[in-house]
Amino acid sequence: MENFVVEGGVRLEGTLTVSGAKNAALPIMTAALLADGECVFRNVPDLNDIATLGKLLSHLGCTVKRDGPAHRVRVDTSGLGDVEAPYDHVKRMRASVLVLGPMLARFGRARVSLPGGCAIGARPVDQHLKGLAKLGAEIELAEGYIEARAPGGLWGAEVHFDLPTVGGTENLMMAAVLASGRTMLVGAAREPEVEELATVLNKMGANISGAGTDVVTIEGVKELHPPDHAIIPDRIEAGTYMAAVALTGGDVLLKGARVDHMGSFIDRLVEAGVTIDATAEGIRVKREGDILPVDIRTAPYPGFPTDMQAQMMTLLCLARGRSVIEEKVFENRFMHVAELQRMGAKISVRGSLATVTGVDGLSGAKVMATDLRASASLVLAGLAASGLTEVLRIYHIDRGYEDIVSKLSSVGARIKRVPGMA
Ligand code: EPZ
Repeated sequence: MENFVVEGGVRLEGTLTVSGAKNAALPIMTAALLADGECVFRNVPDLNDIATLGKLLSHLGCTVKRDGPAHRVRVDTSGLGDVEAPYDHVKRMRASVLVLGPMLARFGRARVSLPGGCAIGARPVDQHLKGLAKLGAEIELAEGYIEARAPGGLWGAEVHFDLPTVGGTENLMMAAVLASGRTMLVGAAREPEVEELATVLNKMGANISGAGTDVVTIEGVKELHPPDHAIIPDRIEAGTYMAAVALTGGDVLLKGARVDHMGSFIDRLVEAGVTIDATAEGIRVKREGDILPVDIRTAPYPGFPTDMQAQMMTLLCLARGRSVIEEKVFENRFMHVAELQRMGAKISVRGSLATVTGVDGLSGAKVMATDLRASASLVLAGLAASGLTEVLRIYHIDRGYEDIVSKLSSVGARIKRVPGMA
């Protein structure tokens, strides 16, 4: 195990480049299963989650060539043979369940381990399974596995989601592209990563319209061909660094960041007293005056992203006043609170509501990372705290933040990776 040691009190200044979006790259890599031949994906972030999915695709018979530093992944599916995503793979990364739709569409059968819950919630996949059944799949749950069959192929249908689900929309979109006839996904998730997946599927020969809205229409086609595609930038990584700059009163240009993917988050940052300027190269972030209190309620896109809730909470710990944060998407996404309290934050939690009373400063401490975004919020707290903060179990961070030590150091942060207790 490794830890981060962060020395607080340094203003972040300079330029930092945003990597490709993890939550776009993952579904897009599973889309490779829908075509025969070699797909080329560029601007793929060099992350553990990407490596984990690459191992699963290789297990299924694909040839996966990752060139991390070049941010390129080639997936050749001509050797594809297996249709089972075993528990060992899926338990390591829930997004592995996204192989279900493409495998069912391509081969008419799939056996995928149920992902199970994770730290932030139960995260069921009932919407995925209900939708696939609507497309004609026979679904059986046995020994912790999803057994899905569609011997006669899938048929277009109208699928109504009970709630917006990113993974559910992505799995259903991929299942529908080779189905016979028209599929409509009503109540679909609208995240930029969902829209990006549709862009890649259309590049492969699919016929999808409406992605990015709450009604997505997919006209089934006979076959798809492999794409060559560069992934969009990661809006959550960008948002995390924007919060870091705001916390330290810094001034940084985030190259590649896209304002059109970050509307509601930027609105709240501006309300908190942060200056945001869109430039041809990306987004320039600075904060000179006080941090102001802001009320936040997380929601499916285009609402305030749940993946930015922990990072925003850290910022609001130093606001001049009281903020209320409501976590409406996941049922257990306040695990960073106890760790922030150990650094002197004043936060009280009742159910899905956290009330943050701003304090003059945080003090460095040893804190424990519990999930990807909570861990990032603790690194951010360390950047603003007095003294040293040691963040334990940073394997969580390595799943979703490429080169976070070199990126933060390049804009002045004092952060280093040290060996932790076994
Ligand atoms: C995606 O997860 C992201 N992961 C998550 O990012 C993100 O937090 C989440 O979307 C919400 O934006 C990837 O894209 C790989 P959902 P996903 O299905 O698809 C409930 C990160 O930090 N639900 O939109 O799993 C579910 O329990 C990760 O990068 C059902 O009830 O999220 C949750 O409460 C964390 N039944 C809500 O919907 C279902 O069948 C939203 O989940 C599916 C979901």
